[in-house]
Amino acid sequence: MRHLLSAADLDRDGAVHVLDVAEQMAATQRREIKKLPTLRGRTVVNLFFEDSTRTRTSFEAAAKRLSADVINFSAKGSSVSKGESLKDTALTLEAMGADAVVVRHSASGAPHRLAHAGWSRSAVVNAGDGTHEHPTQALLDAYTMRRHLRAAGSGHALGRDLHGVRVVIVGDVLHSRVARSNVLLLHTLGAHVTLVAPPTLLPVGVGTWPCEVSHDLDAALTGGAPDAVMTLRVQAERMTTTGGGFFPSAREYSRRYGLDRRRAALLPEHAIVMHPGPMNRGLEISADAADSARSTIVEQVGNGVAVRMAVLYLLLAGGEPAAPTPGGDS
Ligand code: NCD
Repeated sequence: MRHLLSAADLDRDGAVHVLDVAEQMAATQRREIKKLPTLRGRTVVNLFFEDSTRTRTSFEAAAKRLSADVINFSAKGSSVSKGESLKDTALTLEAMGADAVVVRHSASGAPHRLAHAGWSRSAVVNAGDGTHEHPTQALLDAYTMRRHLRAAGSGHALGRDLHGVRVVIVGDVLHSRVARSNVLLLHTLGAHVTLVAPPTLLPVGVGTWPCEVSHDLDAALTGGAPDAVMTLRVQAERMTTTGGGFFPSAREYSRRYGLDRRRAALLPEHAIVMHPGPMNRGLEISADAADSARSTIVEQVGNGVAVRMAVLYLLLAGGEPAAPTPGGDS
């Protein structure tokens, strides 16, 4: 793997390998000394042109736990706000010796351009591009599902992938890079996905995605016996250019598409409730669903560090041993 730009860059074995390495990384994070020497001397640049809390800090934590040097570069306060182009920014980072660039950008395709325009030799990781993709979010979601559904009581005899797992993804699919990357990765891993949204919040061409599509959340929850329900944020900031009008009112949206206590009670006992964050509590998810025992929302954030450690390790360290045993010489 040279770059991670799309969830579709991974085939089944590649995706399972990332999840397995992430498990090894998570095991090292339960030790008293969490830092591994694996990426000592390497430089990871976090290049964030869009706001982020979880993704940026978890890439930073992941790189630091692997002993890489980390440069955080956010568009605000940099020359980007003076109009510097992506190309000039990339050339600057190249001159600083970046081995990996983790990029978030409001333009779909920006990470592809960075990876393939020949401006730099760094490995590029897509940390969210416009409404397009967010592959490491899909990996941490798959990791979270695999962990939970392997545990007793789910009724699944899960192997290393997610074969046969049923997932409902509900909300603003139109603006969600998380939804697209999840559909691609979950399909690769053998899961069955149903997207639920009002017709106004589904992208053109969703009929060609490897999943089912529904407009009826109650039917998807009761009929499908899902193992996981992922709620998506209503992305108000991406609705401004069109003047809104995607749904009649917030109240109407949560009545039809919000995950609340009543709907959570329709789920099989082992089913988990997910959200990539940040949440609009009371809109796409109620506070009691978000804070319930079946919610994995906080855990997803923690799993993000292990998964991003795995991705950086696989991109930058290839075959070197990932996790030396404590006291071992390396
Ligand atoms: C998501 C994103 O930025 O695409 N959040 C995240 O990475 N944790 C989803 C969102 O912003 O709604």
